[in-house]
Amino acid sequence: MLNGHLKLAIQKNGRLTEKSLSLLRNCGLEIEDYSERLIITARNYSLDILFLRDDDIPEYVNDGVADIGVVGEDVLYEKKSDVQILRKLGYGKCNLSIAAPEEKKISEFNQLNGLRIATSFPNLLKKFLTENRINADVVEISGSVEIAPSLGVADIIFDLVSTGNTLKFNKLKKSFDVYSFESVLIVNKDIQLDPRKNSELNDLLNRIDSALNAKKSKYLMMNAPKGALDKIKKIVPSLSSPTILPLADENMIAVHAVIQSEHFWKIHQQLKDAGASGILLLPIENIIL
Ligand code: PRP
Ligand code: ZN
Repeated sequence: MLNGHLKLAIQKNGRLTEKSLSLLRNCGLEIEDYSERLIITARNYSLDILFLRDDDIPEYVNDGVADIGVVGEDVLYEKKSDVQILRKLGYGKCNLSIAAPEEKKISEFNQLNGLRIATSFPNLLKKFLTENRINADVVEISGSVEIAPSLGVADIIFDLVSTGNTLKFNKLKKSFDVYSFESVLIVNKDIQLDPRKNSELNDLLNRIDSALNAKKSKYLMMNAPKGALDKIKKIVPSLSSPTILPLADENMIAVHAVIQSEHFWKIHQQLKDAGASGILLLPIENIIL
């Protein structure tokens, strides 16, 4: 069934599925429609993609069923598997939070004493309770934790919150966040023993780094009077050596630079005030550093 390719496990049908596939596509991998498949192979790259329940991914990577995996830090820290984190991936950001039925107001830790808290993260919940000397009952549930209060099996819940839609839909309100997580790339510790897989992994990591860098950056282009260049250099962070191009109007120049995406909206008005015009911000597909 398997062909000796590097094997990557990603979440089947969940918050991280589409984003993980889109990261791989940004790495130049062609991936066919995966619906209802358990394993697919990238069309132009030696990588098998396994679709698994996110809770199982740390265990499968630990056992070597998959060599690497994309998983939320939440699941990773809950399962305490002996795998290594290779990269933080910057997506799938979420909080592990205490939430209560809308009419119940909880704003302080000590209000949790004596309550029954439903969760599928018993280890992380117990850690939080112990560290804060809270005496509460942990009700372990494997899925759909959000319905526990309405079923009467718990008073409140400790669960992942991303957009908050699941809470709203179940008439629950977040009391406070306890932990913050994002998705990470994990690897089986024995991969070093397999030189071929190791070099395949290095190639994939180079592509992932380039795709993650490209996502953080944008290509900024503008026209400006020659005399404004010094001012513009001061406004644009890290613009030590921009590309300067002559324009038909010899008093004008074009300035091009790679900037951090998040900076653009902070500086665009200042650039205009300095005399820049025709400001363009373009996406970058890849950056090889
Ligand atoms: C988590 C959590 C909620 C949902 C919250 O599930 O259990 O169901 O995400 O997201 P929201 O705030 O955007 O509504 P996850 O994707 O980890 O799937 P799983 O429960 O099957 O592991
Ligand atoms: Zn999950």
